[in-house]
Amino acid sequence: MKILVTGSNGLLGQKIIYGLLGDPLCLLPDDVRKKIKGEVQIIAAAKGENRVHRKDGYIYESLDITSKTEVENIFSKHQPNVVINTAAMTNVDACETKREECWAANVTAMQYICDTLEKLPSPAGEGLGVRLIHLSTDFVFDGMKGSEYVETDQPNPLHYYALSKLEGEKIVMASKLKWAILRTIIVYGIVDGNTRSNLVLWVKNNLEKKQRINVINDQFRAPTLSEDLAQACIMAAMKGAEGIYHVSGEKTYNILELANRIADFWKLDKSFINPISSVELNQPAKRPPYTGFIIEKAKRELDYNPRSFAEGLKIMDEQIKRYL
Ligand SMILES: NC(=O)c1ccc[n+]([C@@H]2O[C@H](COP(=O)([O-])OP(=O)(O)OC[C@H]3O[C@@H](n4cnc5c(N)ncnc54)[C@H](OP(=O)(O)O)[C@@H]3O)[C@@H](O)[C@H]2O)c1
Repeated sequence: MKILVTGSNGLLGQKIIYGLLGDPLCLLPDDVRKKIKGEVQIIAAAKGENRVHRKDGYIYESLDITSKTEVENIFSKHQPNVVINTAAMTNVDACETKREECWAANVTAMQYICDTLEKLPSPAGEGLGVRLIHLSTDFVFDGMKGSEYVETDQPNPLHYYALSKLEGEKIVMASKLKWAILRTIIVYGIVDGNTRSNLVLWVKNNLEKKQRINVINDQFRAPTLSEDLAQACIMAAMKGAEGIYHVSGEKTYNILELANRIADFWKLDKSFINPISSVELNQPAKRPPYTGFIIEKAKRELDYNPRSFAEGLKIMDEQIKRYL
């Protein structure tokens, strides 16, 4: 099996590469590692230089998914059986103000990817044999349900990033490919070179510097450990998953509670956390109040078994001590 991962410089992209390599930075269960070992050729593709520190065991290609020519050239050159598309413009507020850039990465690029993959021959030569695993977001929902979402709930995006991700989903679903869409929520973990922040690192880093942070007290999310999500993506590839999957942490928390837990874990001074409401914070893109997922389908079909938030923090802490 040949798996090509786009966005391999990002948090999830890096973890998928490490997972496929059997590297301690994303250690998968023994049975999954045994299945992958020697069976998978890995092509990591990202914009510009390769930022994954480990350089052996895979091929790296520079790939900007907003370039139709680059997508066509790289996909035709490698003819993957599976593409895991983690590449996206992910900064929600930047998407609100840089709308053309957002649409190019999250929507138009999806058309390039699907059109190109549809034209690739499958290994058996019957065509349309490539599987696309695409990443999407809880933000496709408006967060007004008041409880966890299932895959069949009706999306209603509140901001431009969410709209672009929903349009990307529609392109994947309308394609003739075999596809799976994995929606996820607040992904946290450690990235090589420390180039990307996330909720956990943002709280930890600011409190360590004794800098005051405004933390939202009226929004609820189910945080997702990057290693768990990477494993779900790899299992989706190995098991030939099809359809939409909700893949997040099991429990939904108030974001303020998450910040307090992060502070407690690293024994940091919580007095620098300033609770603030969504109205007071007034972010450019309006966030849904409550998004968590029912993850039964992923558990059933992808052997998904996410770690608790406390376990996730422990894994991050060990990696920070060993690798940063
Ligand atoms: N992180 C979350 O909390 C979260 C929540 C819900 C859904 N998701 C979805 O999960 C997926 C993975 O997110 P992540 O957490 O890994 O985010 P990330 O760390 O921001 O990674 C996204 C990667 O996409 C790359 N990228 C952006 N535009 C590109 C382009 N035109 N061509 C090629 N690569 C491009 C970025 O490259 P540079 O690094 O060079 O900028 C980045 O490395 C995304 O589809 C995202 O929408 C994430």
